[in-house]
Amino acid sequence: MISAGLCAALLLGTAGCASSSGGTAFTDGKRIIRISHGQSETHPEHIGLLAFKEYVEENLGDEYEVQIFPNEILGSAQKAIELTQTGAIDFVVAGTANLETFADVYEIFSMPYLFTSEEAYHETMEDTEYMEKIYESTDDAGFRVLTWYNAGTRNFYATKPIYEPGDLKGLKIRVQQSPASVSMMQAFGAAASPMSFGEVYTAIQQGVIDGAENNELALTNNKHGEVAKYYSYNMHQMVPDMLIGNLKFLESLSEKELEIFQEAARISTEVEMEEWDTQAQEAKEYAESEMGVEFIEVDVDKFKEKVEPLHEKMLKENPHIQDIYDHIQEINAKAEAEEGK
Ligand code: GCU
Repeated sequence: MISAGLCAALLLGTAGCASSSGGTAFTDGKRIIRISHGQSETHPEHIGLLAFKEYVEENLGDEYEVQIFPNEILGSAQKAIELTQTGAIDFVVAGTANLETFADVYEIFSMPYLFTSEEAYHETMEDTEYMEKIYESTDDAGFRVLTWYNAGTRNFYATKPIYEPGDLKGLKIRVQQSPASVSMMQAFGAAASPMSFGEVYTAIQQGVIDGAENNELALTNNKHGEVAKYYSYNMHQMVPDMLIGNLKFLESLSEKELEIFQEAARISTEVEMEEWDTQAQEAKEYAESEMGVEFIEVDVDKFKEKVEPLHEKMLKENPHIQDIYDHIQEINAKAEAEEGK
């Protein structure tokens, strides 16, 4: 069931919306494809999704119209995943932390200092054949990942400077709503405060939390740099965002149509990644010069040491992550060897 409020939001901007039954809506005889995400319209993911829309409509424009709903209009990531699960909407972009409760293999990405370089992270995510096995893990929940988006490296930012792990003691730091994110924050020695992304700005502003952890775009695109003026490069995670599709919808497509949606997804990742690199750099410059955010270089090893025991603990508690963990270690080693050449 979709709520009346949601119906209104879904129909908003749907000029000529002729009919809507269950979650499926049509306009001028075309099936409307609805995608929800939590970022703004200038964010790399939105730009990537516009490329997705363009490719689908270029190739299947007689049958489908793609509509993108940014800014958590349709609800937080967790809510939007539920909507995708039931088929009320067709796609959602969400970080892997939100998927942990549906398939615990996704806990792997919450493991701090999992990837030893950006190269290893990208190579892992681009190994489509391997990742396909992971993507299928949510089939029972009724949805499947189509592609990934780069969401950079996550670092701490707060209203007080964090120079070393000891500075986290007594701080309340927002984490994503996942068990592994909470464990990580506890291992760092801070108090974990799980909440949705959209709530973070006000929580910092009102002093409910002291800070959060995220990529540089959170400072500018989500304006968190207005309320948290210290950003420490401790680099604890590289966590991808996922484009997730309702499984029934994907399975209802003809082979040719599915290929077009898959190609659209691949193109959207390419566009997003390029945009990411530009925007992350710009965000840092803007936050520093226009928002007065101080960027702090820290001794990363000290932060690493603090949470390294989590690797063994997580592997012991969740055998489903062992295979991908080993796979990533191989890629890490290969990337390090290449780096040393
Ligand atoms: C990043 C990421 C989002 C995620 C958010 C968060 O912005 O791209 O997918 O929801 O962090 O920390 O909740």
